[in-house]
Amino acid sequence: MIKVTLIGAGNVAQHLISAFQSQSDIEIVQVFSRNTTIAIPDFDAQKMVHSYAELKEADVYLIAVSDDAIATVSEQLPFSNRLVVHTSGAAPLESLSSKNRRGVFYPLQTFTKGKKVSFKSIPLCLEAISVPDFEILKRLAQSISGSIHSINSEQRKALHVAAVFVNNFTNHLYAIGQNICAEHHVSFDVLKPLIIETANKIMDLSPSEAQTGPAKRNDFSTIQSHEAFLKNANQNNLYKTLTQSIQNHGKEL
Ligand SMILES: NC(=O)c1ccc[n+]([C@@H]2O[C@H](COP(=O)([O-])OP(=O)(O)OC[C@H]3O[C@@H](n4cnc5c(N)ncnc54)[C@H](OP(=O)(O)O)[C@@H]3O)[C@@H](O)[C@H]2O)c1
Repeated sequence: MIKVTLIGAGNVAQHLISAFQSQSDIEIVQVFSRNTTIAIPDFDAQKMVHSYAELKEADVYLIAVSDDAIATVSEQLPFSNRLVVHTSGAAPLESLSSKNRRGVFYPLQTFTKGKKVSFKSIPLCLEAISVPDFEILKRLAQSISGSIHSINSEQRKALHVAAVFVNNFTNHLYAIGQNICAEHHVSFDVLKPLIIETANKIMDLSPSEAQTGPAKRNDFSTIQSHEAFLKNANQNNLYKTLTQSIQNHGKEL
């Protein structure tokens, strides 16, 4: 049995609570939230605490608060030499107070409250200073996911930056595509099979092998007509920058 306490009650904390609660070998000892009115769906309200002084003994304390608050929250914990980990992709392990044993339990997925996810395939990126602490995190991770990775802080930062490109930027490009469709009274739904096929293709091919389009083919007349079509300066700049990036990448290979 692994006894876990969560600090924070936002997106990640609530998804972890729901995943841990379905495991018989994990006990959620408590959940700390500074918000005294918060109610977590299907979670025992008796186990909610709003003061650090009320925190009981646990094997692992998972700090799932905003990146900027990790240092102050970990410093405020009224105990030492216990295993305290954060869930951030961006914050280094050293952002945690050194009065406790430190680690990282980073789920590489996008979480939104109310949108269910299955943890089974979510990569859990783990880091700890000592081997015994890493083993505790590994046991905890293995009980909810089949994708466990030993990742140091520098590698985690690289993964996080890469994730911004493949997830946040891609989604932003979907939003631009949707706007362009809306301006010309055509449904964005027409593009959805293309989006799915492009995402599926890189399961078997490398992204550079899967690349298609006018920039990859060096179809200059098409590129010029697209640039002339895009009157919005931001869209026009992005089009030029991405076209150049695809062409440069081609030259590097
Ligand atoms: N969302 C994702 O997709 C995702 C994915 C992987 C990892 N992460 C990481 O997981 C962590 C939590 O992210 P999240 O998306 O769950 O954030 P979130 O939904 O914004 O929740 C943040 C939580 O932190 C609490 N908090 C903020 N400042 C605090 C402070 N000074 N003292 C005490 N509590 C404080 C908030 O309390 P209040 O409600 O009272 O403000 C809230 O419970 C971050 O490190 C993030 O980088 C997020």
